Amino acid sequence: MAGLFISFEGVDGVGKTTQATRLREHALSLGFEVVVTREPGGTPLGKALRQLLLHGVPEGAADIAPRAEALIFAADRAQHVAEKIRPALERGTVVITDRYLDSSLAYQAGGRELTPAEIRDLSLWATNGLLPDRTYLLDMDPSRSHERLTHSADRMESAGGDFQQRTRNAFLELAQSEPDRFRVVDAARTVDEVWDVIRADFDALLASRTASVDEGRSVMPGSGSFAAPVPHAGGAR
Ligand code: TYD
Repeated sequence: MAGLFISFEGVDGVGKTTQATRLREHALSLGFEVVVTREPGGTPLGKALRQLLLHGVPEGAADIAPRAEALIFAADRAQHVAEKIRPALERGTVVITDRYLDSSLAYQAGGRELTPAEIRDLSLWATNGLLPDRTYLLDMDPSRSHERLTHSADRMESAGGDFQQRTRNAFLELAQSEPDRFRVVDAARTVDEVWDVIRADFDALLASRTASVDEGRSVMPGSGSFAAPVPHAGGAR
């Protein structure tokens, strides 16, 4: 696959969307085709599932059970990969997603306390093993990041302080276990400071991929991507 697959992760309110937008502008300015997307809700099916996940079932019905919740996030992701992410990567696009499978490991395994190995297997089954080339974990104390939220709390955001803390810890453990894929960025710093770290890393990632392709080697183990994305001749658009 010729594209580059980037995910942003972190607890709610850490600024993932802002940084994903900056990365989009940057990649466009370098001449790449870019798709920015998110989970849950990156496809029409996903939007219906997102509504259920974030705003719950009809009044009076029992809340979504933890295993059902995990399966709905996995269904959203399976559709997202099949319909949008893989086709875009095959076209050589830079795909930037606001959340991906690490969110299930952090929220459903960490937060809801389901078994991490099962959630990992479920997620990898749903995506047919597609992992990002790079994951930026924007890390911040959830009690502080939640103060930044401008909308009223949705179903996941209302899950409580302990839940959010477990989620953050699970993200940090994931990052430690896959240091080649993850970059942890202190999200308590200013937007510009966070962006400087991400831009420098992204540029280095591009350079390393270009060098690897020149040497005729595959690039990132486990990533499913084997060549550097090719900038369009016309530059930014
Ligand atoms: P969203 O509004 O997209 O959150 P944010 O803007 O902070 O990224 O809502 C997504 C919510 O769903 C968020 O609280 C995290 C949660 N979530 C999971 O619990 N598991 C998952 O696999 C994913 C993708 C998200």
